[in-house]
Amino acid sequence: MLPQELIRRKRDAKRLSDGEIAALVAGIADGHGLADAQVGALAMAMFLNGLDHLECVALTRAMTASGDVLSWKEDGLPGPVVDKHSTGGIGDKTSLMLAPWVAACGGFVPMISGRGLGHTGGTLDKLESIPGYDATPDNARFRRTVREAGCAIIGQTANLAPADRRLYAIRDVTATVESIGLITASILSKKLAAGLDALVMDVKFGSGAFMAEYARARDLARSIVDVAAGAGLKTRALLTDMDSPLGTTAGNALEVREAVDFLAGRHETRLYDCTRALAIEMLDLSGIAPRAAAGTRLDAVLASGAAAERFARMVAAHGGPKDFVERTYIYLPRAPIVRAIPAPRQGYVCAIATRAVGLAVLELGGGRTDPAAAIDHAVGFVEIAPLGANVGPDRPLAVMHARDEAGAARAGRTLAAAYEISDAPPPASPVVREMLGA
Ligand code: URA
Repeated sequence: MLPQELIRRKRDAKRLSDGEIAALVAGIADGHGLADAQVGALAMAMFLNGLDHLECVALTRAMTASGDVLSWKEDGLPGPVVDKHSTGGIGDKTSLMLAPWVAACGGFVPMISGRGLGHTGGTLDKLESIPGYDATPDNARFRRTVREAGCAIIGQTANLAPADRRLYAIRDVTATVESIGLITASILSKKLAAGLDALVMDVKFGSGAFMAEYARARDLARSIVDVAAGAGLKTRALLTDMDSPLGTTAGNALEVREAVDFLAGRHETRLYDCTRALAIEMLDLSGIAPRAAAGTRLDAVLASGAAAERFARMVAAHGGPKDFVERTYIYLPRAPIVRAIPAPRQGYVCAIATRAVGLAVLELGGGRTDPAAAIDHAVGFVEIAPLGANVGPDRPLAVMHARDEAGAARAGRTLAAAYEISDAPPPASPVVREMLGA
């Protein structure tokens, strides 16, 4: 059938069959079968009329099959291949600790990550603040690093789910990103192509998340878990709170420093709770250790330094300094201006417009406003006051690292405006709200 006839059927809210979806995806992947205008129209028809479960499974499978699908069988790995994916947040550096932490427990983590998107930071941008870190190794080097370090964090290769790459780029400029069916198929097609045995999703809700509303985030988590099961990938989802930045830092090199501190045993509670909860699910779901024993195993490899050693091995295998973990401070770039952002009065932080904290990092130059632009890895915030913190003359809202006075002035105003202060502390809320999946 002609592409325009299939688009017309979806426009008129009819179901598309598996074969019809496969034909459309083949046309998206080959770059000629469907023109950009047709891909945009199809995305809008899917956005407005939704995809049912079977259509979403078919779209996921077809986009997975549009490029290389990795298999780890011939590598003879002595443990399961397991990964985590987050829907994105502010200060979310969990991947940096989670991959080596799970590797130290016997898992193999081939983590294919993205750059910053919108107001959120990207794992790749963070890692590229390490001098020499090559996030686009060839396939042989990627596999060797996974085999030898137990984990490798790299960027999406050209031939991994190419249909998603084109569809995503067109969705980005046609106001069709925020569709639960399209997001589900987009994320899962890349994870299925990575040849995983198990996946844990971190679906964020709250003021710093793409799906701020809890009910929408939960619908997305439900959709991902159900479609992954339909496509044959064991998946669980944790719903985690993004009403406050995660950890004490936001900004690329500053977050890498916090990750190294974490692996050395110095960690902020919410970041620790979130990362540990995700790690427990990864160990349980992949069969490394049942949930009841997983926490003890994780605690042991963190305390022994084995998790930090895996991180060091991964960084060195990617071309970073061999002594990066011991001498983090000399390697990471530093910004020339370091300035506290004072609290407007003594009191408790009762609300944070967390998205604005991400935007303040962008204003400092720590993220992209143009997809091709370079970013400043050194800038951002440290000592970020979390929800419930008692701020005042002795405790600023955060300490800013800036490149120049103009950026510092703009970002300082944005960060200060993101905070609400009250006389009483807000009720405490756990970082992990719910788990979905068998
Ligand atoms: N991340 C993805 O990979 N795809 C989406 O559609 C949204 C977020």
